Amino acid sequence: MAKKILFINGDGIGPELMAHAKSIVDVLTDVQWVEGEAGYATFQKCGTSLPEETVQRAKECDATLFCAVTTPPNIPNYKSAIVTLRKELDLYANLRPFVSLPNVPSNYPPLRFAIVRENTEGMYCGIEEADENRATATRIITRKGSARIVRFAFEYAKKEKFSNVTLVHKANVLRKTDGLFLEAGKEVASAYSPAISCDDALVDSVAMRFVKSPQDFQVLATTNLFGDILSDEASALIGGLGVAPSANIGEKYSLFEPVHGSAPKYAGKNIANPTGMLRASAMMLAHLGFEAEAAHLEDAIVQACKSNVKTRDIGGSASTSEMVQEIKKNLTRAIC
Ligand code: NAI
Ligand code: MG
Repeated sequence: MAKKILFINGDGIGPELMAHAKSIVDVLTDVQWVEGEAGYATFQKCGTSLPEETVQRAKECDATLFCAVTTPPNIPNYKSAIVTLRKELDLYANLRPFVSLPNVPSNYPPLRFAIVRENTEGMYCGIEEADENRATATRIITRKGSARIVRFAFEYAKKEKFSNVTLVHKANVLRKTDGLFLEAGKEVASAYSPAISCDDALVDSVAMRFVKSPQDFQVLATTNLFGDILSDEASALIGGLGVAPSANIGEKYSLFEPVHGSAPKYAGKNIANPTGMLRASAMMLAHLGFEAEAAHLEDAIVQACKSNVKTRDIGGSASTSEMVQEIKKNLTRAIC
């Protein structure tokens, strides 16, 4: 039976990139698409950025494909649709693989590494207080949450044949919260030794080493805020936000999205890079068991870059639809 996939267009460049992604997935396999609404346009229409119906539909589908939403900074108590959705579906692991593409300008040797970011607690648990002169945010770290994210990172390392996991923290200052993350993480790591080794590093030094020698890293496991910041930095190492995909995985549900946001200034101009969105679609296909189809799609993207049919953010001159067309052509060739 065809897999049921919830798609959420979102805002800005979201709808156009989603339409391309659906048309590519349709070339590869039969799926039943179900639409879900979320984001700023939804808020303007319905008064909420994430209608309950969308969460319900996500729970009834085999996976969710999400593009990007706008989160306006000036509306008090506005809830980010994607942060809320990750929480509602308990998508505790945010997996972001960073793999270089050919012909994409870069100062580094070909890279292949991944960041596994805790997605449900840390600084983004949404507990903030403020009066006129003082504001505080609560950072929640639990033993259970830390152990399960580090276990996820090790399982990913095992599956993808990486030999090291780095625990990224700031336990020298955040002694209690990151102390607990580190303690729980090391306990999990001991079960994978010696097949997969484990080291740890301070988040600020990792930010520096990303610039200096990112090839030193394999899989990094970290808390919510650090993972968010490091993964935007990491995307710049392989060509920018336009090329990086991510998966949000929980015990029951999964959601796939590009790392980038809604890039409103590119909306409707047919210039946004479709690669992050398409790589996210490939991750979704692999997660649903369509490993061969996912590999075809990954390869079709590589071939498009080799032929220099790529968007301007990665040094090309193709429009979004020209790049998608090229990828589709490569796919059809590979499948026939
Ligand atoms: P952004 O990722 O939307 O854009 C930052 C810059 O990255 C763009 O100006 C553009 O130069 C480049 N970029 C992003 N996607 C690209 C693509 N596909 N092709 C080529 N270049 C691309 O981040 P920004 O500007 O900080 O946020 C814009 C809106 O998106 C905000 O409302 C923010 O809250 C939201 N956002 C949503 C996310 C999500 O839905 N998961 C994640 C990050 C931001
Ligand atoms: Mg981010």
